[in-house]
Amino acid sequence: MKRTFWIDTDTASDDAVALIMAFMNPDIDVVGISIVAGNVPLDMGVQNALYTAELCAVTPSIYAGAAKPLSRELGTAQFVHGEDGMGDIGLNLSGRTPTPGNAVSKLVEAIHVHAGHIELVTLGPLTNIALALQQDPSIAKAVKRCVVMGAVADHIGNVTPVAEFNMWVDPEAADIVLRSGMHLEFVGWDISRTEAVVTPQESAMIRSLGTERANFSVDIQRVLEKFCAEETHLNGFDLPDPIAMAYAIDTSIATEVRHWYLASETSSELTRGMVVMDTLGVMHQEPNAFVVTKASHEKFMSMLVGALQ
Ligand code: RIB
Ligand code: CA
Repeated sequence: MKRTFWIDTDTASDDAVALIMAFMNPDIDVVGISIVAGNVPLDMGVQNALYTAELCAVTPSIYAGAAKPLSRELGTAQFVHGEDGMGDIGLNLSGRTPTPGNAVSKLVEAIHVHAGHIELVTLGPLTNIALALQQDPSIAKAVKRCVVMGAVADHIGNVTPVAEFNMWVDPEAADIVLRSGMHLEFVGWDISRTEAVVTPQESAMIRSLGTERANFSVDIQRVLEKFCAEETHLNGFDLPDPIAMAYAIDTSIATEVRHWYLASETSSELTRGMVVMDTLGVMHQEPNAFVVTKASHEKFMSMLVGALQ
């Protein structure tokens, strides 16, 4: 029996590769994709997801979701991924039509239809998930698991000194999700910057696969690679959403997972969106999330190549 995935994404250049990894996996049935504003405005995220699905010759239901965070103005990451989110390489990223329907209602419906089996994978801000929980809190226990690309277990942020982008965009949504009782598994940006950096040599190896998916997956990282060279000082480009998707598909990519109490900072401007991880248990709160703290670059690259070849 195939596994049932629902993917929530703010589709930009790394999200697109994560989508390909799910689309190309024969054991996974992607029953729905909800788009959330984050990396790029909502409509761009919708078009980028539709383009990626077309590239893979699949036709999943792709629904437009929240156009802005619950209570804040949208801050995008177009400075990281490009104005179009896909490296600004001139792709024809317009004119495709999403599936009619409200993403949040469709997500709630799918969770009840597939109760106990559906695995959520979130690749962007948690706005849609929070809205779904507000609409129907019972979904928290109906979801088998929710793998979240977000936060940082080493508290070294990528958008502020302490906050990771997805959590920073909508800290209130992260707070709702963390308090919901849902089975949460976080794959943070710390794992991306240590185990999911694709070096120039590895990019060349991926291109040598010769498929359209492989070349696309490298080409659209053009702006990200520049950001990594100048800002995060990584040797190549890192792929946070793909390594989170790889973990969702095969948890054995993780070599250490901890169970901690996590809390989202929603008050301070300085530490907005920081997901504080109580690693020593000093708050004496019941742990509410599993956190990947070590993972295998080799296994990640093997899974990535497997999806792109
Ligand atoms: O911090 C990295 C995350 O923010 C990734 O999901 C990336 O796509 C952006 O959404
Ligand atoms: Ca993302």
